[in-house]
Amino acid sequence: MKTKLFIKNNYILKYIEVIAKKNEKVFCVIDSKIKIDLKQIKQKNLIIFSIQCGEKIKTFNEYKNLSEKLIKSNVNRKSALIAIGGGTLGDLTGFVASTVLRGLDFYLIPTTLLSQVDSSIGGKNGINTIYGKNLLGTFYQPKEVLIDISVLRSLSKKEIKSGYSEIIKHALIKDYSFFCWLEVNTKKLLNLDKPILEKAIYKSIMIKLFYVKKDEKEYLLDNNSRAMLNFGHTIGHAIESHYKYKKFNHGESISIGMIAEAKISNYLGLLSSNELKRILTHFKKYRLKVNDNILKDKRLISKITKDKKNFQNNIIFSLIDKIGSSIFYKKLDKNKVYKILQNI
Ligand SMILES: NC(=O)c1ccc[n+]([C@@H]2O[C@H](COP(=O)([O-])OP(=O)(O)OC[C@H]3O[C@@H](n4cnc5c(N)ncnc54)[C@H](O)[C@@H]3O)[C@@H](O)[C@H]2O)c1
Ligand SMILES: [Zn+2]
Repeated sequence: MKTKLFIKNNYILKYIEVIAKKNEKVFCVIDSKIKIDLKQIKQKNLIIFSIQCGEKIKTFNEYKNLSEKLIKSNVNRKSALIAIGGGTLGDLTGFVASTVLRGLDFYLIPTTLLSQVDSSIGGKNGINTIYGKNLLGTFYQPKEVLIDISVLRSLSKKEIKSGYSEIIKHALIKDYSFFCWLEVNTKKLLNLDKPILEKAIYKSIMIKLFYVKKDEKEYLLDNNSRAMLNFGHTIGHAIESHYKYKKFNHGESISIGMIAEAKISNYLGLLSSNELKRILTHFKKYRLKVNDNILKDKRLISKITKDKKNFQNNIIFSLIDKIGSSIFYKKLDKNKVYKILQNI
């Protein structure tokens, strides 16, 4: 299914009303931190569930709660489900949407910068298990995605920076001139300057869509593979999981992951030391996280090998060979990765 994508401003209430008018019954699942009062919408067919979000909701238990609430409220095949929240709410609700009654019409309104530039695009959803992140989930494209920049005003600086990490990732893997543009404009972007933010969100989405369109299910085995988007995530996911999602948010973890993986790229002779330095300078200038003690710890390696993309002793990385250019899957033995991490 083709997803329709809108980028608008101050449009959320109106948009939900439009969906409510077109559907028999509409379920809205909203992050309790969003300061939008859905009760203003006078449609009687709207049922609202509010959830306190964060990584803790991507569990079996929350999946069960939400699915059963829908079923108890007589959800049917003509019902629509709208998720209004960050990546965690989108991932949980998308998984519910794809499985309840074998699939409900799903609308996504991402409310964090991270979810607007990344998780709302591409149709992946899922929940975590004790063995690692996103191990249960489906590919399920939303019918429509509404990106509304005005909702970001209530977001903390920490969360804005978390989203910025995915933006810089997109530049690092695919677009050198976007990276140069970010070097000049990041301060304005982090201050939510509207034209700069809109351009960065648009550019970022286009890069993500480039890979999703070429390789929706991540089958390709070359530099156009969706796996390129995993740059920083092999290590980043293991860090998140090691700290049980408490010490760092997603963007912070992958920010440390990207620097570690850029250093691995440099160690393997793929990325020049000058370019590595330029990346580090940018991360440090905007106080993105670049390091953590766990990188040198054996426990990190065993976490990495639990990732669904790794097999037995081999760890798979998407690395970069230049700013704006990434290379498909470097397979490294786990002992070698441990050794490299001691030396970078
Ligand atoms: N499915 C995908 O393709 C994909 C891609 C990237 C990341 N992800 C997932 O996304 C998740 C991270 O998403 P996230 O960073 O949006 O986290 P999140 O959903 O936890 O949101 C971060 C925090 O911001 C709050 N919040 C959300 N919108 C707000 C707003 N407008 N104003 C004030 N506060 C608001 C939330 O309550 C939460 O406390 C991770 O679980 C990650 O695995 C998925
Ligand atoms: Zn990510």
